[in-house]
Amino acid sequence: MEKEHVTLTQPDGTTLELPILEGSVGPKTFDVTSVYKKTGMFTFDPGFMATASCRSAITFIDGEKGILRYRGYPIEQLAEQSSFLEVAYLLLYSELPSAEQLTEFEYIIGHHTMINESLQMFYRGFRYDAHPMATMVGVVGSLSAFYHDSLDIHDARHREISAHRLIAKMPTIAACSYKRHKGEPFIYPRNDLNYTANFMRMMFATPCEEFEPDPVAAKALDLLFILHADHEQNASTSTVRIAGSSGANPFACISAGIASLWGPAHGGANEAVLNMLDEIGDVSNVDKYIARAKDKSDPFRLMGFGHRVYKNNDPRATIIRKVCYDVLENMPTADSPLFELALKLEEIALKDEYFISHKLYPNVDFYSGIIYRALNIPMNMFTVMFAIARTAGWVAHWMEMIGDPDHRIARPRQLYLGAAERAYVPLDKRG
Ligand code: CMC
Repeated sequence: MEKEHVTLTQPDGTTLELPILEGSVGPKTFDVTSVYKKTGMFTFDPGFMATASCRSAITFIDGEKGILRYRGYPIEQLAEQSSFLEVAYLLLYSELPSAEQLTEFEYIIGHHTMINESLQMFYRGFRYDAHPMATMVGVVGSLSAFYHDSLDIHDARHREISAHRLIAKMPTIAACSYKRHKGEPFIYPRNDLNYTANFMRMMFATPCEEFEPDPVAAKALDLLFILHADHEQNASTSTVRIAGSSGANPFACISAGIASLWGPAHGGANEAVLNMLDEIGDVSNVDKYIARAKDKSDPFRLMGFGHRVYKNNDPRATIIRKVCYDVLENMPTADSPLFELALKLEEIALKDEYFISHKLYPNVDFYSGIIYRALNIPMNMFTVMFAIARTAGWVAHWMEMIGDPDHRIARPRQLYLGAAERAYVPLDKRG
């Protein structure tokens, strides 16, 4: 049977057949890799609006139907029944672990949580008021200077050890960034605690006072980590892949991913949502801000609304909204007026013609900040929380890419709009 193809007709009437590639689920894709060779033209797609940049078997999203699956498992089932480390294992190794494999994985991650003591000096080099994301970019990038023994990207075992180190050390690095910012001593990890509880203790204990993580808080945080663990070819994951495509070491690649995540259109949105809610302040001001979001001459956007892929609902937002209710019921620190304000904003926006016609719905970050605040996590750490979780996805994508024998350096082309060739004019001859 003839293979399906798309026919491209050139201005001179000649045609080119472009093979259609089928994934296991989701839209078909036609292969444009031969277009330049055969037509002398490039394809143009800024922002990758319709371009599949790679093959991947990790995460599937159907933006129209609001579906998100890791390795085939619906996010709702993982959120309900799994744990973050089990999800990290699933992303890395393609399958859910057996009980024995999970215990071993938890042991390995638990025994890679310490960071080299010299890194403390590195932290001290930052100004006390450095944003924790700035510290994260620097410290994670510096790890390649400390862990030389796992840097051979062509060795599968080295790649695996680096992946384990990154997942394990990220909470320690994050907590140290916070402690540095706060001017408190670093708290060392403890191997008898689970991933999330250990992180909370490193954040909130001091040498003079122990910290017992509240089980509701630890569970809510673990769930947020599951929801943020991966999201296929988003900006930061694509950044990790592009950085890694040149053969750069994994620590440098993840540092690049953190830098990309920091932007307010991506992971920085959770911090921006709380800033926005604080600025709105009261339900009586909601209409004014909705009007601003619709006004094209005003750069203000409703933060936590809209998504490149989800056009009807973000399944992660639906799950988080429910968790907000649980946290509010069970935690005295929860800020219910803030949640009520968020609910009101959502209610008004969802009835508004502009938001309906632009298909703008609350995304994962609209509610996550409310939970972080209830857990006493300071606002400038919100995006760091996202980075801890997304590290599992980043390393899974990096491993998938490096392990693919067909992978090549990522090198997009451009539509050049600058000056054509012109002759250099000596300084004394310029008008
Ligand atoms: N408020 C008001 N208008 C918006 C918003 C918003 N939050 N988002 C998009 N629009 C409008 C935009 O002005 C444009 O209107 P028009 O077609 O009339 O010019 C239209 O909707 C399409 O927007 P776009 O920016 O071209 O869409 P995009 O797919 O490039 O951007 C987005 C997606 C998430 C960057 C954008 O919706 C946004 O800036 N949202 C606010 C930031 C945010 O919450 N980001 C977190 C994303 S979820 C977490 C993550 O994955 O990182």
